[in-house]
Amino acid sequence: MGRKPRSFGLDFPAAANISNAINTAADCGFGFVSVPLAHPMLRRCANDQSVPVEKSKWMRTDLVLSANDWQVRVIPKISSWLELDSPNEGFRKRSEEVFHQELAFAHHLGIKAVLMDLRRRHNVNLARHLLSRLTSENSSYFRDEVWLQIPTTSRKMNTASCRNDVPEDDDEDKDDPWHWWDDLRLLCSSTMRIKVALEVTADLPSEEKLSRWYGEPIEVLVIPTSLFFTNKAGYPTLSKAHQRFIQKCAAREMTVLVTGGNRHASLRHYVQYMNHLFQSAELPPHIQCNLGFEDNLQVPLQPLADHLESFTYETFEKDPVKYTEYGNAVYQALLDRVPEAEIETNTQVIMVVGAGRGPLVTQTIHAAKKANRKIRVYAVEKNPNAVVTLMDLKKVSWGDIVKVVHCDMRKWKAPEKCDILVSELLGSFGDNELSPECLDGAQVFLKDDGISIPESYRSYVQPIMSMRLYNETRELKICDKPYYYKFEQTYVVAQTNSYWIAPRQQLFEFIHPNRSEVVDNTRYKRLKFVASEDSTLYGFTGYFDTTLYKDITLSIVPDTYSRGMFSWFPLYIPIMEPMSLKKGDPIELLFWRRRDQTKVWYEWCVQRPLTTGIHNINGRSSTIGL
Ligand SMILES: C[S@@+](CC[C@H](N)C(=O)[O-])C[C@H]1O[C@@H](n2cnc3c(N)ncnc32)[C@H](O)[C@@H]1O
Repeated sequence: MGRKPRSFGLDFPAAANISNAINTAADCGFGFVSVPLAHPMLRRCANDQSVPVEKSKWMRTDLVLSANDWQVRVIPKISSWLELDSPNEGFRKRSEEVFHQELAFAHHLGIKAVLMDLRRRHNVNLARHLLSRLTSENSSYFRDEVWLQIPTTSRKMNTASCRNDVPEDDDEDKDDPWHWWDDLRLLCSSTMRIKVALEVTADLPSEEKLSRWYGEPIEVLVIPTSLFFTNKAGYPTLSKAHQRFIQKCAAREMTVLVTGGNRHASLRHYVQYMNHLFQSAELPPHIQCNLGFEDNLQVPLQPLADHLESFTYETFEKDPVKYTEYGNAVYQALLDRVPEAEIETNTQVIMVVGAGRGPLVTQTIHAAKKANRKIRVYAVEKNPNAVVTLMDLKKVSWGDIVKVVHCDMRKWKAPEKCDILVSELLGSFGDNELSPECLDGAQVFLKDDGISIPESYRSYVQPIMSMRLYNETRELKICDKPYYYKFEQTYVVAQTNSYWIAPRQQLFEFIHPNRSEVVDNTRYKRLKFVASEDSTLYGFTGYFDTTLYKDITLSIVPDTYSRGMFSWFPLYIPIMEPMSLKKGDPIELLFWRRRDQTKVWYEWCVQRPLTTGIHNINGRSSTIGL
């Protein structure tokens, strides 16, 4: 199920009396109004330069509303006639002055954000003025946001895609409004305060082009009333294509702004319909499980080098899927190893290595009961604090069937060999919590024909466009570190604001037990992707899946996601500078897993279409302690 929009706004092309507009909107369920900042009766004439901008009377007094109402109930619109990139110098200058005057007044009113139309591609001068307003160190405007209202298609783009009697125009994509936005945000890359108010148009572009918007910082969905049909009962409804697109947007927190005249019995029906549409959205399982945690960067855990805390264990243990599947895997392995004829005589030795606070031990005991097989369990854990819990569980619940061993599994001198080695040492990238290194140490006490659960795991990567994740990375406050440091980390993050530029590909695989003569967990791979659309590469998403036993698997890869599981979020693997891509561009990613005596680390770079530096060379910014 999706979530409700954050709030609803009603757009007024003109509002002589703002209080009335707010009341009208509130009566129909709208929390705020969007109105031109300039009073309709006091509009300045665009070309009349006889009155200096600072002397023109254009705005009503702020006393018409309380400060709180200005802040909460109004999103003002910057005058739509402004052309900061006009070739006419006089007009351009006047536009610049009015632009600053209006932003200054909005700031005076304490307003959080202003709406501004973006109607064409060339906006370099606008970008410069926006940036200087929003990022200048001396500016008091640093907390304001500008929401650029951008349509999903332009007239030219529509004509090109809907008619075959007009000549092919190579420049069709240039009039794709996404490009208007892409150019401007690259120019303004040093601020996070410019966001998108996406105006949903009657004609929609291709699915691929539309889905590109999922990677953009959409703050508002602008829905014209002209999009609505009337259903048999007389209520507004949208076309299936519009419903699909809007429901996909429901994965993220968003505001809805309704614009245009009332075409139905009440404006309230638009609010009700949109609420219903958002809430009835079927979100994909990988998003559904992550609601509430979206797009917050976290440093990956290091359960080998650090001791996990009680809170972390408790969070894991709530996962309804992971432990059930481990239980199923142990059950199946026990059935396979002990034939019916031996159930009284054959006691299987099971070692749960990295037992934490014991959930896998409990699952193992349940599985043995269900399978009607005899077992003896060793619970091996190196975290002394978790061992306290294990000892207690042994006393109050498990009994003598379990032996608790406080030890690093790589150094343990086991008293006997085991039939089944159970572990969960997996990170978001599979091997990034050093499961391979730990299990290589532990496999010495696995019988030659013994089973490792998991038996294998694989990492995957996928190129993504996510300005949000990139900016979050860039804005991290990390003292005393060089600029590259933040971009040479991997981050655990539930991602809802990303566009997948190309399908994911498998990176590395690890198989247990590892019976190779020379055990080598270093890896190197070159992957080639192809950009599905013009886009901007901001890095890669990393996932993993694991085969616990035979066909019992766990996965955080979106298309094979283990429904309901929330133990792992994907990784974000940044690149230092965003890279503009054309549809069909090859993207070549080179990835290394390296190690020395004390640590493991990843290095990566992109080689096509442009070459980046090698990130994290020699683990200079991030490593995983052995
Ligand atoms: C991701 S937690 C999983 C805990 C538990 N099995 C669960 O599923 O809730 C990994 C556990 O393995 C332990 N661990 C990691 N490396 C270890 C090692 N080399 N020897 C023993 N325990 C280890 C950590 O302390 C941590 O408790």
